[in-house]
Amino acid sequence: MSVRLGPVRLANPVMTASGTCGYALELAEFVDLAGLGGFVTKSITLEPQEGNPPQRTQETPCGLLNSIGLANVGLDRFLEEKVPLLERLSIPVFVNVAGKTVEQYVEVARRVSRIPAVAGLELNISCPNVKEGGIAFGVHPPMVAELVQAVRRACPQTVLVVKLTPNVTDIAETAAAAVDAGADVLTVANTFLGMAIDIDGRRPVLGGISGGLSGPAIKPLALYLVHRVYRQVARDRRIPIIGLGGIMSAADAVEFMLAGATAVGIGTAALADPACLPRVVEGIRNYLLEKGIPAAADLVGALQL
Ligand SMILES: Cc1cc2nc3c(=O)[nH]c(=O)nc-3n(C[C@H](O)[C@H](O)[C@H](O)COP(=O)(O)O)c2cc1C
Repeated sequence: MSVRLGPVRLANPVMTASGTCGYALELAEFVDLAGLGGFVTKSITLEPQEGNPPQRTQETPCGLLNSIGLANVGLDRFLEEKVPLLERLSIPVFVNVAGKTVEQYVEVARRVSRIPAVAGLELNISCPNVKEGGIAFGVHPPMVAELVQAVRRACPQTVLVVKLTPNVTDIAETAAAAVDAGADVLTVANTFLGMAIDIDGRRPVLGGISGGLSGPAIKPLALYLVHRVYRQVARDRRIPIIGLGGIMSAADAVEFMLAGATAVGIGTAALADPACLPRVVEGIRNYLLEKGIPAAADLVGALQL
């Protein structure tokens, strides 16, 4: 069942998705986290962030809209209060890093990368760049390159995962920019921009006006993005992909792996039912046994065209 994200070995391909499983403690009483392949924290920013006003989530047919707005405890409290808990996890931990400027990302990345228990950093590049009028870092290949290069220079030894935004014309371009700038692993993908309107009040349902759509509604879209990034960028350069977006079952996870993902993330499904995490691990194992496939890694990119 084991797979490798660059130098990091996961005992199985199933990981949590940033922002949906807190800082690990929140899930620990529902799920034996030791049975997962890896844990990804909520995004951490330099300063604490209150996040967006309510309403912050809204269910949609087959999905979930959220405008949490990166509410988090900030770097200092993260290091003081959350890291001791993460140090007790026996699985690789990736800390998701966010910011409003390149300098903020670099500062958080530098300090987090010094923690021995951290297997790697995941850069959430879907955040608005305040110095560029609020355009998201992840939509503009030169901005992706600048950000990833800066973090790479500050943390030369750290495993660097770059989490791509799907809200672009061609994700292969931003994927290539991230890899050329030094990304070791790509996460595909973050949420799709969306909104909901209250027709009685004639107002947006979400306090943040727009939000990110996740869950099964986006699965075919995210699956295609993994396929495209794998074929256009990742396969030839041997860059592993963490695939996610709407995965609910082992069959969904296998689809992502066949499309080119080495590991998979589970977010919204775990909000509804945390027990789906170990179920997906077991389901992948059963699929391999049933099909007589020796190793989970054999699934990666095995799609026949
Ligand atoms: C409530 C919620 C909060 C999220 N917070 C973050 C976050 O802090 N950082 C991040 O990179 N992604 C965040 N995401 C995106 C997820 O990590 C994931 O990319 C996305 O939800 C697609 O996967 P899913 O359909 O399995 O949820 C969040 C998603 C949800 C639903």
